[in-house]
Amino acid sequence: MSAPTLQTGADGRLRHLLTVEGLPRPRLEELLNTAESFLGVTQREVKKVPLLRGKTVVNLFFESSTRTRTTFELAAKRLSADVINLSVSTSATVKGESLLDTLRNLEAMHADIFVVRHGTSGAAHFIAQHCLPHVAVLNAGDGRHAHPTQALLDVFTIRRHKPNFDQIKVAIVGDILNSRVARSQIHALTILDTAEVRVVAPRTLLPVGIESLGVKVFTDLTQGLAGVDVIIMLRLQKERMRGALLPSEHEYYRQFGLTEARLQGAHPEAIVMHPGPINRGVEIDSSVADGARSVILEQVTNGIAIRMAAMSLIMGTRTQDGREVG
Ligand code: NCD
Repeated sequence: MSAPTLQTGADGRLRHLLTVEGLPRPRLEELLNTAESFLGVTQREVKKVPLLRGKTVVNLFFESSTRTRTTFELAAKRLSADVINLSVSTSATVKGESLLDTLRNLEAMHADIFVVRHGTSGAAHFIAQHCLPHVAVLNAGDGRHAHPTQALLDVFTIRRHKPNFDQIKVAIVGDILNSRVARSQIHALTILDTAEVRVVAPRTLLPVGIESLGVKVFTDLTQGLAGVDVIIMLRLQKERMRGALLPSEHEYYRQFGLTEARLQGAHPEAIVMHPGPINRGVEIDSSVADGARSVILEQVTNGIAIRMAAMSLIMGTRTQDGREVG
C-alpha cells in the first residue's frame, strides 16, 4: 500500500480528488469501473440513485466552464445530492473576500463536497488543506496544473473503445504547454501502462523537460500521428499564453490542424477526442470533429458517469456524521 497523501488516506482510499499524478492504479481502475456501473443509471428513465441523498455539493467556479460545471451538477443531482452553483461573477471574492473566508461561509452552510475550478495552480490543494475534515474537495481544473476528472473521463472513453492500454499508441496534439488536461492525461495513461504516449506540438507549445514524463515528443503532425490508435486534440489556450507563441491561427491550422487527410496517417480504427471547447478550423476541421471517428460527444456523456463515480467513492469513505470510515 502506498504512503498516505492529501488525497488518499492511510487506508489507501480516496479522501479528495486533486490530481491523477501518484494515484495508485487500483484506485484509478476503481473509479473507471464505478463509472461503468453508473452509465446504466444515466440511460434509465429515472436517472437517479440515492447515494448522496442529504449531502450538499457546492460547485465553486472561479473560472468559467460549461461542460465541466454542468456535468458535475448533473452527476451530483443523479446521486440525489443538493447542489449549489457559485461562480466568481456572483461570489463575494469580487467584493474582496478571501478564499478562506468564502470557504468558512460555505462550511457554515454544511457543504459536504466542494468542486473547485480556479485559475491558479494549487488552489484545490489549498482548499483541501484548509477545509473541515468532513469536507471533500474535487479539483475541476486548477491553472495549468491538473484536471483529474477530465483525464479520467478521457481514459474511460478510450477504454470503452480500446480496452488494452498496453497495446495502444496515443497522440496528444496541440497546446501542451498551457494544458492542465494534457498533464493529467499523461499521468493517467502512464498509470495504465499505455504502450506509447506521444505529444505533438510546435516547440513553443511544449513545456521544457516534458520527455521526463515518459512521452515521445514530435514537432511534426504527420510523423506524430503515424499509426496511432487515439488522437486527442487540444484547444489553443490563448487566455494562458504569455507573449506571441504562434505566428497565426491560420498558420497553426496549416501545420497542426487535424484534417481528414491528416487523419489518414493514423490507424484506420483510430478514435478522435477533444476535451472541448473545440475551435473549428483552428485545431480541428469540422468534418473530423463531426466525423465517424470522433467520440467527442461520448466524452461529454461519460463525464457524468466519471463525476458520479468520483463523488460517490469519496463520500463512501466517510460516515453519516462526516468522519472517515476507520
Ligand atoms: C478544458 C479545461 O478547462 O481545462 N476544458 C474542459 O474542462 N472541458 C480544456 C480547455 O479549456 O481547453
